[in-house]
Amino acid sequence: MLQVKDLLVGYGESNVVHQVSLKVAAGEAVALMGRNGMGKTTLLKALVGMLPTQRGDIELDGVTLTGRPSHQRVRSGMAFVPQGRMIFPQLTVEENILVAMDRNGPRTQRVPDYVHDAFPVLAQMRDRKGGNLSGGQQQMLAIARALVTNPRLLILDEPTEGIQPSIIKDMARILNVLRRERQFAVLVSEQVLSFALDLADRFLVIDRGRIVHEEGRAHLDAAKVSAFLTV
Ligand SMILES: Nc1ncnc2c1ncn2[C@@H]1O[C@H](COP(=O)(O)OP(=O)(O)OP(=O)(O)O)[C@@H](O)[C@H]1O
Ligand SMILES: [Mg+2]
Repeated sequence: MLQVKDLLVGYGESNVVHQVSLKVAAGEAVALMGRNGMGKTTLLKALVGMLPTQRGDIELDGVTLTGRPSHQRVRSGMAFVPQGRMIFPQLTVEENILVAMDRNGPRTQRVPDYVHDAFPVLAQMRDRKGGNLSGGQQQMLAIARALVTNPRLLILDEPTEGIQPSIIKDMARILNVLRRERQFAVLVSEQVLSFALDLADRFLVIDRGRIVHEEGRAHLDAAKVSAFLTV
């Protein structure tokens, strides 16, 4: 479904992501593992159109998205949960979600039931300001905000960062339920292997901007992936 070929991405003169090619099949969950500064965010931002690409191609279901603005990529079926969540702190929980739906039509929408079924805490806190939620609750909100655009591919950038282990476990469980029910594929960048193991069918390792290792879950050498994450 997602097909990325020979991507080159950087900032000005400095190239950060080199010759990255990857695929995500419909319904598949792929984990992009890598240490700090290895280029996870740079790669994901290029996929969603928040950074320009120097070279290479990005296709979703055979449609070329390279060079297209982010809102077109969202309309084509990509949704992004950014690192650090980036929710609107002054808007309520409900407003944060409705703002994401608004691009599809007038402000007559309500939060779909499946969102509150998946994240009951967001129903309880619907009138609370986003900035007053805990880190874990904000992450749930950021995921909900991405889901209401009805993605076929949900891209998450280090969703476990700064989140308590018990909530991380919950997040993996909820994402797996949603994946089955809503039938989207997942591309998630991570440093926490246990979370990736709960979620992913396939594992890629990014090191200094290159994909250096790839393995399916059935043959996963967890020690090898861990070594890349801890060196
Ligand atoms: N705006 C920027 N301008 C210049 N260089 C940048 C910029 N953002 C990131 N970089 C550099 O690009 C490289 C990759 O950074 P990136 O944020 O993609 O890594 P990451 O794998 O997401 O790291 P982390 O796990 O800390 O989020 C780093 O060397 C970083 O210093
Ligand atoms: Mg990052």
